Amino acid sequence: MKFFIDTANLDQIREAQDLGVLDGVTTNPSLMAKEGITGRNNILKHYVDICNIVDGDVSAEVIATDFDGIVKEGEQLADLHEQIVVKVPMIKEGIKAIKYFTDKGIRTNCTLVFSAGQALLAAKAGATYVSPFIGRLDDISTDGLNLIAEIRLIYDNYGFETEILAASIRHTMHVLECAKIGADVMTGPLSSIEGLLKHPLTDIGLEKFLADYKKGN
Ligand code: E4P
Repeated sequence: MKFFIDTANLDQIREAQDLGVLDGVTTNPSLMAKEGITGRNNILKHYVDICNIVDGDVSAEVIATDFDGIVKEGEQLADLHEQIVVKVPMIKEGIKAIKYFTDKGIRTNCTLVFSAGQALLAAKAGATYVSPFIGRLDDISTDGLNLIAEIRLIYDNYGFETEILAASIRHTMHVLECAKIGADVMTGPLSSIEGLLKHPLTDIGLEKFLADYKKGN
């Protein structure tokens, strides 16, 4: 399972990279705005800064919603750095653009996916990643993890190579459940990754080991 961090905060990206288990970064316009990154040039520079911190894929989202606009913006994003994956919304024009990018060898992440049907369409268009938003489904009393399981079944039935990128992850249990289902990638906040570290018996055990060592030295 690949671990992506879902933020545009460079300190958090560095911290996750330092942990040694980071495989990539996802961003979106809201995450950019949260960091105060505004204006086209600043946003493009920020993507390059992120690519220079991490080794893996960095999803950069288009703002356009028409085919020509998505293609123009996506090509500009892809030209920025070899690690960039163009993030395209799950809309009709987006699917057409994903097919166009696939044919040109530009990698894509189909975002804002909330149903198995949408995920099937993204795979048919050749998306590199599909991003089902599980936390936002949970927020409206719908089982986000069940969607991951449905997509896994469909993709395995037909051998689709599109990777399931479980997005909108809110906590460690989401990460674990996605791993059990077989999501290819998770993207979430740093806390959802660091939460995997924690167990009280580890802390108690370590404290005892260190105390016993001190007794004999
Ligand atoms: C995915 O790529 C999105 O950036 C993200 O996971 C959305 O998460 P949220 O629902 O916490 O905003």
